[in-house]
Amino acid sequence: MTTSNPRISVSRAMRMELALALVAFVALLGHGAQAQSSSTFPYSSCTQSPSAYSLLPVARSLGNGQYCFTLNAKPPTGCNTYCCTRADVVKMQLNVNAACDVDDANVTVTVSGVPVKQQPEAEFKEPKSGRFVLAISELSLNRGSSGADICISLKPNKKGKGCTTLQQLCVPPAGMPSGVCSAALLDSNKACCPISTVAPPPPSPSPPPPSPPPPTMPLPPPPSPPPPAPPPPGFPPPPVYPGSTCTACVFLNLNAVAPGNGNSNTRFLPAQCGLYAMRIIADINAAGAALAEPFSLSGCSDNLLKVCGAFTSADEAAKLKTASLVQQWVKLVRGPAPVCPGYLKGFTVSAYLGGQGSCLSASDAASC
Ligand SMILES: *[C@@H]1O[C@H](CO)[C@@H](O)[C@H](O)[C@H]1NC(C)=O
Repeated sequence: MTTSNPRISVSRAMRMELALALVAFVALLGHGAQAQSSSTFPYSSCTQSPSAYSLLPVARSLGNGQYCFTLNAKPPTGCNTYCCTRADVVKMQLNVNAACDVDDANVTVTVSGVPVKQQPEAEFKEPKSGRFVLAISELSLNRGSSGADICISLKPNKKGKGCTTLQQLCVPPAGMPSGVCSAALLDSNKACCPISTVAPPPPSPSPPPPSPPPPTMPLPPPPSPPPPAPPPPGFPPPPVYPGSTCTACVFLNLNAVAPGNGNSNTRFLPAQCGLYAMRIIADINAAGAALAEPFSLSGCSDNLLKVCGAFTSADEAAKLKTASLVQQWVKLVRGPAPVCPGYLKGFTVSAYLGGQGSCLSASDAASC
């Protein structure tokens, strides 16, 4: 609990996890290897790209000024440079507003999702006159730390001063809206400093009420790949649409791998359901099958998302590449392997396409 900077307290016991994910790789700024000039963020001379490390492109909010950034440790294919094969991550720096550097700033940091040797520390610094960073050090992360959540807690100081949201904290990259953060990950040799652009989480109810244990649903057991599942009897039949001979629903499900396993706060947030439904609907529409009823979000609960619609015929429905679609939808939630966001640790993500009496049936699942 000690820190070299007396102005910053570091809490070990902060409880984590709330859901809000976005899955995709972070586009690094710039292309190819480049040494960072020290006159711009992160104000040190180091290679930004390519690198094994990035942050997932959307931060998660735990409410109360707490935000998590998820580490992705996966070198680009074919990259054999030091930053892809040997670099570690000891520090994360955020490009921040000068106004956040108040006396006795109340910023704490924790890392979850992977074991950590040391307690991280957070400190505002002014590496260049008038330019500020929030430096989070003692991270001891490496290429085995994919999915680690680096979480900061932004609280007002004793005088009620200080930045408490990402909108107040971060200086967004040029042209980006308020709340978007530039984050640099630095290695112990100060040789690599990949930069990620991380968007703030979409608005969500916060803090969420504690959820009851999710109802269990018969789906393939972990580990993946599971065998295709028969239509689970737990699912209600899809709605009946006139003029259709094939109705179908997509179900996305979160299940604890073992009872009592995983974080009890992990659940689908409405914002996630909206986002996932949009992608699922776009994927279905892209198959070009004639629809009797357009697909739409028809259910979003703590552990189950449901998108339903209908095809004019089974032949039309057959235009969907169902096996790869369900895989894609699992990945939508779980993230691209080997990344598994910390909040999903101990959970199985399943996707099922079909429903009672549907002409389609496909499923996939992956465990974190
Ligand atoms: C930090 O914020 C917490 C919660 O608001 C408060 O209890 C604590 O006293 C603050 N600590 C400092 C050093 O300001």
